[in-house]
Amino acid sequence: MNKKKVDVLLGLQWGDEGKGKIVDVLTPGYQMVARFQGGPNAGHTLEFEGQRYVLRSIPSGIFQGNKLNLIGNGVVLDPVLLREEAEQLAQSGHNIKKRLVISRKAHLILPTHRLLDAAQELSKGAAKIGTTGKGIGPCYTDKVARTGLRVGDIERDFATRYKAVRDRHVDLLQKMGADLSKLPEMEEAFYQAIEYLKGYQFVDSEILVNEALEEGLNVLAEGAQGSLLDVDFGTYPFVTSSNTVSAGCCIGLGISPKAIGRVYGIFKAYCTRVGSGPFPTELQDEVGHMMADRGHEFGAVTGRPRRCGWIDLVALRYTIMLSGVTHLIMMKSDVLDTLSTIKACVAYRIGDKEYKNMPYSLEADIEPIYQELPGWQTPLDGCRSEQDLPDAFRHYVAFLEAQLRVPISIISVGPDRSQTIMRKLNNEL
Ligand code: GDP
Ligand code: IMO
Ligand code: MG
Repeated sequence: MNKKKVDVLLGLQWGDEGKGKIVDVLTPGYQMVARFQGGPNAGHTLEFEGQRYVLRSIPSGIFQGNKLNLIGNGVVLDPVLLREEAEQLAQSGHNIKKRLVISRKAHLILPTHRLLDAAQELSKGAAKIGTTGKGIGPCYTDKVARTGLRVGDIERDFATRYKAVRDRHVDLLQKMGADLSKLPEMEEAFYQAIEYLKGYQFVDSEILVNEALEEGLNVLAEGAQGSLLDVDFGTYPFVTSSNTVSAGCCIGLGISPKAIGRVYGIFKAYCTRVGSGPFPTELQDEVGHMMADRGHEFGAVTGRPRRCGWIDLVALRYTIMLSGVTHLIMMKSDVLDTLSTIKACVAYRIGDKEYKNMPYSLEADIEPIYQELPGWQTPLDGCRSEQDLPDAFRHYVAFLEAQLRVPISIISVGPDRSQTIMRKLNNEL
């Protein structure tokens, strides 16, 4: 049996590219789907058979038959939110308990992590990051500071360990003047959720994944957030607290860099961002509003409106490079159907200098240099094969492939599972 590799799918922009939808579409070709970083800051939307689901911690392979879904060691897990998510799925007839396993090395988000997230944001005032408020930053901080709690700790002296971490947090919160009145009820829900979590199988996931590869099983790793939110390479400090690029998959699952196979890079035909931070191609005009409106650009987790703008090829070339993307996936082209002209940012101008590569910071005064292309002005949402696509759209796709130098393998023309055109993948899968 040939040893297999892990294929990884990750967002190339600021998140919300449509990862959930495509992981669901690709899952039939895999036996295992694994999350490797992030936590319930993610909101991955799937639509099929007239139903819409938003997944936050549970991998998006959960709806496709008896696939094994794994929450990997690189993930930060909030037991309260996992319970909520799983119980909602159970209510709509999807009992996932047997199909979901959790790494013992995944870190736990505690109620005090959420309070710390809120208190830190408040203390930053106008300079706030605009986090999702899920305790992500404080939990990863504890991980790196070597003071965190892990899922595996539930199987040993959890209460003592919990108290030590919690008391330290409370001390910190008091010094910050935070309101702690909700903490007792949050802790009660937390303790109930820890009991609930014991109903799942905890695994040494690095061994599970490597053995699966040895046995010839296909594994798909599902990224969360997007490359421009990566803690090292994103628009720091307006980023999340994990590595969202493909290297994060090695750490977050315990696999060797040689064990990475395909790298699917997913992007929207335009660009969005939620929360604070620089966004060179942002539009505040009616085209931006049209994108937000037609694209239903509201956060799946927080409901916040997403900022919209033109596609940024400087940023995309950078994130493709960082992750070694082998296959591109283009989403939400249908949102641009009504436009007579489409713009793509091909370079930045800062002062009197032109940049084709990503500068150190995007917080400078950047003027995007655009190339204009004719719009297709035809509805794409009914297209199901390449032959159905209008010429002007094919021209746009060819332009992007030439600029990005990676083939676009999948084109999505609507939120539903069926609104997906497999282009160059047909022969491979
Ligand atoms: P994720 O976080 O990357 O999984 O993306 P989100 O689920 O947060 O946001 C993507 C949104 O776009 C969801 O509401 C999807 O249902 C929707 N969507 C996905 N693909 C398409 C598409 O091709 N066209 C349109 N119009 N909507 C899409
Ligand atoms: P998915 O997986 C879009 C953003 C937040 C904020 C910054 C830090 O659905 O694509 P955090 O709570 O992580 O500390 O917030 O990152 N952010 C996302 N934006 N999609 C996401 O996930 C995001 N997860 C975090 O808005 O700007
Ligand atoms: Mg999302």
